Amino acid sequence: MYVGELLKGLDRVSTGVQGLDKLIGGGFLEGRVYLVTGPPGSGKTTFGVQFLVEGARNDEKGLFVSLFEPQDVLIKDMLRYNFGILEHFQSGKIAFYDLGEILLNAGRELTWDELFTLLVELIKRENAKRVVIDSFSLFESFVSNPSGKKKALGLFIRLLRSIGATTLLLSEMLSSEKYTDEYYLADGVIVLHHFMRNYQMVRALQILKMRGVPHDSNLKRMRFTTEGIVVYPEAPI
Ligand SMILES: Nc1ncnc2c1ncn2[C@@H]1O[C@H](COP(=O)(O)OP(=O)(O)O)[C@@H](O)[C@H]1O
Ligand SMILES: [Mg+2]
Repeated sequence: MYVGELLKGLDRVSTGVQGLDKLIGGGFLEGRVYLVTGPPGSGKTTFGVQFLVEGARNDEKGLFVSLFEPQDVLIKDMLRYNFGILEHFQSGKIAFYDLGEILLNAGRELTWDELFTLLVELIKRENAKRVVIDSFSLFESFVSNPSGKKKALGLFIRLLRSIGATTLLLSEMLSSEKYTDEYYLADGVIVLHHFMRNYQMVRALQILKMRGVPHDSNLKRMRFTTEGIVVYPEAPI
């Protein structure tokens, strides 16, 4: 059987980002883990919230795990979009979990295993079908055994797959030569870029890796609109 035939039977999960689904074969694969990375202000948090809002609109429970921002700050930032974010939090279709606050007050550093165990329990408890971790790179500063990451992350990814929770790991872009474990282990990597050209800010999205889907890795222009991030597959950069 060809890989394409095997993939036909898999459920696609819409990204919620207009223009992106058709670039990746219809959406993310259910229960898989994706890395969304980029520099500060590139749109990672917006992307993550958009992904959860898309789920909430289709009655799929979402979970936003925050390592940095409290909920009121996130809500204020997202109110500028027509996401109906407040309603989704109020109705419980999207749950917010301030993990940063909990880890700061934990009194000791956790191991990677403990951290992922906590996350899996949380995801199961919330019955979340879509999960966003903002940001995954911040975990590094909370764990006691940085070297145990790859094995623990591999196990976490397997567990997510069995639960069927499609997960986005948002991460700060480090220097481009430094590929962290999540680049290798994730089923896909999306890079958000912003750079100046002729005194104009250009924003672009790049599909660096997407298992099982033929795609090009060129930069695609993206814009922030009142509906959130929109990707223009045909527009030249
Ligand atoms: N309508 C807009 N026009 C231009 N830039 C915008 C618009 N909306 C948001 N932005 C930019 O996007 C950034 C928000 O992106 P965010 O999702 O918080 O990025 P990250 O999580 O990667 O830091 C804002 O700081 C702002 O610079
Ligand atoms: Mg952010």
